[in-house]
Amino acid sequence: MGAEVPPSRPAGRPNPALLGAWTLAAAALAGWAFVAGFGGFLDQAVAPFGTYDIAVTARQWSWSFTYPNGWTADTLHVPLDRPVRLTLASEDVMHGLSVPALRLSEAIVPGRAGEAWFEADVADTFELRSDIYSGDGYSGMRTALIAESPAAFDAWLTRVSDIFSGRTDVEVGELLYNRKGCVACHSLDGTKRVGPSFLDAYGHEVETRDGGRVLADDAYIRESILEPNAVIVAGYEPVMTPYAGQITDREIAAVTAWLKTLSGHGGAEAAAVPDTTGADAGQKETE
Ligand code: HEC
Repeated sequence: MGAEVPPSRPAGRPNPALLGAWTLAAAALAGWAFVAGFGGFLDQAVAPFGTYDIAVTARQWSWSFTYPNGWTADTLHVPLDRPVRLTLASEDVMHGLSVPALRLSEAIVPGRAGEAWFEADVADTFELRSDIYSGDGYSGMRTALIAESPAAFDAWLTRVSDIFSGRTDVEVGELLYNRKGCVACHSLDGTKRVGPSFLDAYGHEVETRDGGRVLADDAYIRESILEPNAVIVAGYEPVMTPYAGQITDREIAAVTAWLKTLSGHGGAEAAAVPDTTGADAGQKETE
């Protein structure tokens, strides 16, 4: 008699043991990939502690970068070997911040605060551009990312953000008038705003609220800026916020030098008073 071949498993019937083994193996692999990758994901998504923060603003079609001291530049300078955190904002449409050399690519969505971080470890200049089409001029959205030693970086930031660099005191004074918000309350044309006009203010005799008279000299200007409520000008309210701690002595000197140029009664002390008769116009140029 022919040996009966034991009926083999009909084709297509699952082998529960094998099926179970494969399922477990696949699940284990997926679990391992998740665990192994999660660290990397966190690393990329969440900036480490101690970052150097720079605010990036994108617009059609340019970039600007604002440093912690308030200085804004159109190139991105960063210190080497320190994590840099960029906060991203768009003023108009969607843009894409991209620095291919640093494997950086991040969409900047209008109305949403974005973030990216990186750390440069070679001193070099990289290209930073937009990799999202934002209209005709978008290819012009290119600038430089300059990674430099912390010392070179600090020197750069100090140099560019020094308001006095490349300016005369009088120019700095006028700039401060706008930057520090004096412009909101003090006109330059004699018009009374919240505060008295700066026209002819320097060197004039101030009538104070309590009936006294003070000469608006350097010391008075200084006091008016640092402690405006020490002497109140007649006809005005004591609403000026003291600038003590917000303005340096050198800046006060610059504002004072500039105020002198706006005044017809600077007295002998005010060498920079423009000659209003025009007879001496040539002399102004020697300032
Ligand atoms: C919120 C409005 C406001 C701002 C901002 C402001 N001031 Fe005044 N300032 C006044 C008022 C009001 C007076 C007059 C009352 C007083 O003496 O305090 C005055 C007075 C002065 C005086 C005396 C003027 C005079 O004719 O006697 C000086 C100088 C002065 N301010 C300088 C500055 C400078 C510099 C800044 C910017 C760094 C500035 N102020 C910002 C409101 C302002």
